[in-house]
Amino acid sequence: MDTSTPTAARTYPAAAARYTGGAILLHWTIAVLIAVNFAAAWYANGLPRADRMQVMTNHKAIGLTILVLSLARLAWRLTHRPPPFDPTLKPWEKTLAHITHTLFYVLMIGLPLGGWLTHSYFSGGKPISAFGLFNYPGLPVARNPALGETMGGLHGTFAWVLLALAALHVAGALKHQFFDRQREIQRMLPG
Ligand code: HEM
Ligand code: HEM
Repeated sequence: MDTSTPTAARTYPAAAARYTGGAILLHWTIAVLIAVNFAAAWYANGLPRADRMQVMTNHKAIGLTILVLSLARLAWRLTHRPPPFDPTLKPWEKTLAHITHTLFYVLMIGLPLGGWLTHSYFSGGKPISAFGLFNYPGLPVARNPALGETMGGLHGTFAWVLLALAALHVAGALKHQFFDRQREIQRMLPG
């Protein structure tokens, strides 16, 4: 009688299926900061000018923190192999996940850069206080409110694209987790 266990070959090794602790910490820190930055921008819209400026200063400082963390995340990604997808994932699902992840990196870096440029056109390159701890420099451009308006519009539009992508990303994670019964969210959770 054959006592071998052919199913063992298909078992998904728990340790290999998870992102590293550092990647997990970066993923969730960036996700929370992005949510906070949306909330700050929208909340600021309804405030009197002085309060709006204060909230927007924090929006900019948080956004530049997201930029720094996203660059660290990209560096991690370029130097590490992510854990393999669940073997039951269909090829089109893997392709969609790759496209979503790539667009995320583009937006996690491009969106703060666009905001930085918007600020710099409006202010003529004034520095940005990082919560009173130190200053980020402004980008070296001459004051140009018209370009600031244009960049600000693009910044807002791309923020919506990021939001749509996040909705797709979460829907995908929940589908795999609960409908396809794959161990998806555990890949991005510690423990
Ligand atoms: C991932 C990070 C960021 C997200 C998700 C984000 C999101 C947003 C959103 C949703 C708005 C409101 C747009 C609207 O009301 O139409 C906004 C406005 C703005 N953001 Fe950001 N932002 C980020 C990073 C930054 C950074 C790093 C800066 C500057 C250093 C910045 C500067 C601005 C400015 C100046 C506005 C007002 C634009 C205008 O009045 O036209 N943002 N941002
Ligand atoms: C705006 C917020 C978010 C951003 C920018 C973001 C970004 C990313 C990126 C870029 C990856 C790919 C990691 C890599 O291989 O380099 C990833 C993976 C993942 N994210 Fe998010 N994420 C966000 C929110 C969420 C939320 C709310 C959930 C919860 C359902 C989630 C669950 C996951 C899971 C489970 C993975 C690993 C799955 C896989 O490899 O396909 N993410 N995320």
